[in-house]
Amino acid sequence: MSTSSKARTAIVTGASKGIGAGIAKALAGAGAAVVVNYREDEEGAERVVAAITAEGGRALAVRADVAGGDDVRRLFDRAREEFGPVDVLVNNAGVATFAPLSGITEEEFQRQMSTNLLGTILTTQALAAQDDIGSASIVNVSTAGTLTHLVYASLYVASKSAVNAFTVVAAKELGPRGIRVNAIMPGPSDTEGTRAMGFPGSAQEAQAVAGTPLGRTGTPADYGPLVAFLASDDARWITGDVILASGGMR
Ligand SMILES: NC(=O)c1ccc[n+]([C@@H]2O[C@H](COP(=O)([O-])OP(=O)(O)OC[C@H]3O[C@@H](n4cnc5c(N)ncnc54)[C@H](OP(=O)(O)O)[C@@H]3O)[C@@H](O)[C@H]2O)c1
Repeated sequence: MSTSSKARTAIVTGASKGIGAGIAKALAGAGAAVVVNYREDEEGAERVVAAITAEGGRALAVRADVAGGDDVRRLFDRAREEFGPVDVLVNNAGVATFAPLSGITEEEFQRQMSTNLLGTILTTQALAAQDDIGSASIVNVSTAGTLTHLVYASLYVASKSAVNAFTVVAAKELGPRGIRVNAIMPGPSDTEGTRAMGFPGSAQEAQAVAGTPLGRTGTPADYGPLVAFLASDDARWITGDVILASGGMR
């Protein structure tokens, strides 16, 4: 947000930990007032808010399940009450499980599709429903797995491939209103989520590092600067793009 004189209001979904927390801190560092959304981890969200305010930034934690329309409306209402119209939205909340095809249940299909895809659609609708915003920027967090076609992740990759397609089409629909829509595709990264899956120290991690030209896995701090750029007026001519941010893994 370096060249923008306008103070922005940002919502980052799933910002109580991991990549979302890194993005929330970077946006606050670039001058935005940030709503730190979470679903369950209130303590984690409050820690992110405290880290932002300790640096002189503005932030507020708001619980909401992005997969529910009522929760999403409440999230936007609360953000607007506290900071004004929302003109930056980062759809980071996401869930994944890795399983062979035979392990995909209807319940897991609903869980991943409703968080990763429906959540992105509901928040995008809520941002666009505001009739008092000027230009705005939406950044969707996809995965490099949509390019590498990550094995045993067919459901997750399908949900994020749909997010990539949604990004491009929504950018066409919302462009005439000055609302830009882009996505980033992170590579395998060290987060609370991947730690819970046993990724650090695993054979999969070694394989990911071997396949990454920059020779390591990602960290939450790697994505914030890119998202802050996409949210800023410096990126005013970029929309409908899906950007790989994976240390070169493809
Ligand atoms: N880490 C990686 O290697 C990697 C690679 C590529 C892409 N990504 C993508 O990057 C994003 C973040 O990943 P991460 O590894 O940082 O995740 P993480 O550590 O597991 O954190 C997930 C975050 O999403 C929130 N969340 C989950 N479901 C939600 C819902 N229905 N409503 C609102 N918030 C919800 C969680 O909130 P609570 O904990 O408060 O419930 C948490 O803040 C995801 O979209 C993921 O697919 C990650």
